Amino acid sequence: MVDAEPFIEDAISEIEETVGDRNAVIGLSGGVDSSVAAALTHRAIGDQLTAVYVDTGLMRKGETEEIEETFAFMDGLRIVHAEERFLGALSGVTDPEEKRSVIGEQFIREFEREARDADADVLVQGTIYPDRIESEGGIKSHHNVGGLPERIDFDEIVEPVRDLYKDEVREVARELGLQSIIAERMPFPGPGLAVRVIGEVTKEKVDVAREACHVVETELESYEPWQAFAAVIGKGTGVKGDNRVHGWIVSVRSVESRDGMTARAQELDWETLQRIQSRITGENDNVARVVYDVTHKPPATIEYE
Ligand code: XMP
Repeated sequence: MVDAEPFIEDAISEIEETVGDRNAVIGLSGGVDSSVAAALTHRAIGDQLTAVYVDTGLMRKGETEEIEETFAFMDGLRIVHAEERFLGALSGVTDPEEKRSVIGEQFIREFEREARDADADVLVQGTIYPDRIESEGGIKSHHNVGGLPERIDFDEIVEPVRDLYKDEVREVARELGLQSIIAERMPFPGPGLAVRVIGEVTKEKVDVAREACHVVETELESYEPWQAFAAVIGKGTGVKGDNRVHGWIVSVRSVESRDGMTARAQELDWETLQRIQSRITGENDNVARVVYDVTHKPPATIEYE
């Protein structure tokens, strides 16, 4: 486990030295990795840092507001509202890897515009150790690795948490005094809720996934899962009131893991599962069925796409 205090001191001096008097820009995702990278960089270079948060419309419930609050101290925070552009670009796209690449492309476009405005020569990224391993292994094209540097002309890329595992990043987040909602928040994929709806990304499916994820996250807090969420996996028949409905099927997933590279499906008690089911079907008229995923990784991945 990393020793957070000396790590922070070293990271700050390294960033100061590397960036010098240039301007830097970072894409904030709402997750702990980019938040820690941003906080470290802000300590090192202050106003020379612009942090760009793109609200893709694929974020978790309340995420944009939390970012605004957490980074209110940063003059250089820019919130870009791009929900409509992302949903537009994703219209008709069903293949998982194509979804990732459309999102990556759109993200770059949004980010490029802000980076040019900020007149930044240095790109800061919240890449952590497992991101590098999985991308190098070609398992999935994690869009926070690769892409950006080739497209935008930065002189330098700084990755202050590149050698840390997720639990170590959290340790550093706590030491930095980042709000616990950010420090303790579960990992969330770069493409967001787009990989938690199977097939085409529509506003209706994303809204169902967002609300259901929120239910799962809150109901399972005491289980301290490494990651717990819900995904919209298809449609099926149900009965609501006196009517047969063709509604969404939501799958609930909760896993234990250290680094996301392998994971075990968590054993939950029946009452908890039933409470989740009843909240998700009760709060969403268009959900007909809730199932629980018992598959470990491998053979399944954590996310559905
Ligand atoms: P999988 O689904 O591959 O996920 O078992 C392992 C961990 O990575 C997250 N994940 C992603 N993170 N971009 C990301 O930044 C992605 O495209 C992506 N896909 C999965 C996932 O949430 C889990 O924590």
